[in-house]
Amino acid sequence: MNLNILIMAAGLGTRMRSTRAKVLHTLAGQPLINHVYQAALELSPQRILIVIGHQAEKVRETLENFHQRLLTTGRIKIADGFKPEFVLQAEQQGTGHAVMMAQNSLLNDSATLLVLSGDVPLIEAETLDNLIKTHFEQQAMATVLVTQIPDATGYGRVVRNAQSGFSHIVEHRDATATERMISEINAGIYCFESQPLFATLSALTPTNAQGEYYLTDVLRLLVEKKQTVAVFSHSPSEEVLGINNRVELAAAERKLRNEKIGKIMRAGVTVMDPASTFIDANVEIGMDSTIYPNVIIEGNTLLGEHCSIAPGVHIVNAQIGNNVTIRDHCLIVDSTLGDGVTVGPFAHLRMGTHLADGATIGNFVEVKKSTLGKRSKAMHLSYLGDASIGNNVNIGAGTVTCNYDGKDKHPTTIEDDVKIGSDTMLVAPVKVGRGAVTGAGAVVTKDVPERALAVGIPAVVKKAL
Ligand code: UD1
Ligand code: CA
Repeated sequence: MNLNILIMAAGLGTRMRSTRAKVLHTLAGQPLINHVYQAALELSPQRILIVIGHQAEKVRETLENFHQRLLTTGRIKIADGFKPEFVLQAEQQGTGHAVMMAQNSLLNDSATLLVLSGDVPLIEAETLDNLIKTHFEQQAMATVLVTQIPDATGYGRVVRNAQSGFSHIVEHRDATATERMISEINAGIYCFESQPLFATLSALTPTNAQGEYYLTDVLRLLVEKKQTVAVFSHSPSEEVLGINNRVELAAAERKLRNEKIGKIMRAGVTVMDPASTFIDANVEIGMDSTIYPNVIIEGNTLLGEHCSIAPGVHIVNAQIGNNVTIRDHCLIVDSTLGDGVTVGPFAHLRMGTHLADGATIGNFVEVKKSTLGKRSKAMHLSYLGDASIGNNVNIGAGTVTCNYDGKDKHPTTIEDDVKIGSDTMLVAPVKVGRGAVTGAGAVVTKDVPERALAVGIPAVVKKAL
């Protein structure tokens, strides 16, 4: 089958009340448009065209980056050299107008054209596949995806003819009181034969409440020309509903979140309070891990087996091993944690933190761009930045790596088996040799040799140990 896909994504989305284009609003950690693009890609079409307008460059950049990420993760099969194509709709004069803008670049293709709305992000490839099947079975020139909802306010209503076949779609704002009682609505997703579509587009007129060219009027015109317009009815409706405001965005978020949490619980993870737990779509969690209430796990986080994540923990893009305990109220971003690591309570692991197996970060400790070796510990009230710390090191309470001189950042190296006394200031760049000890309150401005004891302000080497 020759299949092309067109995604309409040029609108601002006035009802979002935002300066950001609607399709760039985030759902389950991804812009709306990414969700639609992914469903489109899963159908392996010949081409995908995206109509852009509002914040066109931002939308294009977002999708190109997403496409690149999908290529590198290999999560979806993508044909060699396949790339999304972009069509500019400088002025948004309606959904019909959006399709007109793409007409030129599709004219020589006799393909079937699947038209998607960039603001219907929960749509699944399987549903689209079934829509296309119906389209072919009915040998239709156009097939429209519809659903039933109790409160259809805002949606285009499906008007049936006397034989309950499809007649036309009337937009909410153009509908009579009787038409507004109709609970069957247009989901904004269509399958068209390209040639009859393009032959009809030019007949559209903006004679309606919004003064726009409605794509839905193509269906009415095809019916008038006695062409077959089929209806594909889908339920449950949530999957095919558009996001028009932030209330609907939150409802979609809740739906995806529940699905994700259901999936990980069925795979053997205990989630104590699903209602207060946020886990992004791409997060993976191993068996017998336990997630306490009020936890947020985002991005491409991988969490191993038998881990315990306490209340109030927020994790973003972290790789975490097995048997890891994260105590209450920690923030962990762009970090890797080995097996048997313990963190918190109240710790902040910033980007580039690497904790080797069995390492411990305790109460009120901040770590940035630093490595802690196996079984090393920083239990209380420390800042470790740009530090490379070996195995079996103990960092005393209140230790600070003074890594910033007001202009540049400098590294601190602490070799294996070192004991850093409480309240030591390590004035970087500085190195503490293997097995050395610093006294409480030392201000270390010069390298400390292996197995030496350094004390005082500035610290002096007292004796070899
Ligand atoms: C549209 C349908 C309506 C349907 C609803 C389902 C029309 C006339 N109406 O209404 O029957 O029930 O979707 O969600 O089609 N867009 C453009 N360029 C434009 C206008 C819109 O690219 O000039 C894009 C938007 O970015 C959006 C999609 O098309 O992704 C739908 O537009 P929107 O304005 O939300 O249409 P609705 O009023 O929801
Ligand atoms: Ca919409």
